[in-house]
Amino acid sequence: MINDLIYLVGMKTMTKLFENKVAMITGGASGIGEGITNVLSEKGAAVAICDIDENAAKNLAEKINSAGGNAISGYVDVVDKKSLDEFVSYINSEFGNLSICIPNAGVVGSKDFSYRKDYNDSDWEMTIDVNLLGVKNTVDSVKDKFISSKEGKIVIISSHGGRKPRGTGDKGRGNVQHPYLVSKAAVIQYMHLLAQELGPHNINVNAVCPGRIWTPIWEAIAVNNKEVNPEYKEMSNYEIFIEQIKQVMPLGRPQTPEDIGNAVSFLVSPDASEITGQALNVNGGASMN
Ligand SMILES: NC(=O)c1ccc[n+]([C@@H]2O[C@H](COP(=O)([O-])OP(=O)(O)OC[C@H]3O[C@@H](n4cnc5c(N)ncnc54)[C@H](O)[C@@H]3O)[C@@H](O)[C@H]2O)c1
Repeated sequence: MINDLIYLVGMKTMTKLFENKVAMITGGASGIGEGITNVLSEKGAAVAICDIDENAAKNLAEKINSAGGNAISGYVDVVDKKSLDEFVSYINSEFGNLSICIPNAGVVGSKDFSYRKDYNDSDWEMTIDVNLLGVKNTVDSVKDKFISSKEGKIVIISSHGGRKPRGTGDKGRGNVQHPYLVSKAAVIQYMHLLAQELGPHNINVNAVCPGRIWTPIWEAIAVNNKEVNPEYKEMSNYEIFIEQIKQVMPLGRPQTPEDIGNAVSFLVSPDASEITGQALNVNGGASMN
């Protein structure tokens, strides 16, 4: 009985890994962003969720708060630097001490992407705006603060598609994903440059390259695969997703948003304090470089 009580008191006072840390996650309202948010929150971080889908961000923050976590949310369009600056000011007034930044928001193409075999100008504009300039805007909104406090962790969400040209594996995909794949490669190079620039200020900058996770982005890709590849005509979107996983990922199973959240959690933890400038493959072996 006494031992049980001592154990319970011990559990209650045990410090969580990210206690007193504040993390901002862009595109944090759904999919991978939600997984990252949940993992960091469960490990004690106060989380600031921003998204163009303001309601979904608000709902997630309410869910986390009612489960005993500490979350705020707000509208941000990562293409609009002003909305990011306003959200960062809000984080500082509510929590202070922001030191973890996860640029995660991303798009695979522009409107009606799923029904095209080839990219158009708006696919290039949209993916470069959101996936590349949006990441730069996000980093710019926190950089000065991280430098002045001599503390910061940045983890950019790239993709295994940013690691290599495709060709094998993805049967008859057409060219429509070219802008997306270029944007994901570009953020890896940007991450390298940031790691060099910010390392002397005690700021670690890394990227995570996920493989395949069933989210709205992947559903749009599956619809497009069906459009491009007649072999997929009779398959459901989810069956196409599973088939594509088997083609390119040696582990051959769908990943979860929490798989990516766990990798992010490692990279922002003290265990990874000597890791910077790295793009970590978390993609079941889809890319090995
Ligand atoms: N799902 C996958 O298999 C996969 C694989 C590799 C990389 N990724 C990357 O992971 C990230 C998250 O994707 P996901 O699969 O969770 O997709 P998702 O569509 O579920 O999530 C993307 C989130 O970003 C938000 N968003 C979109 N544009 C925005 C903008 N301009 N400003 C702010 N928020 C915006 C959306 O509202 C959404 O909540 C993306 O960068 C994506 O490229 C996904």
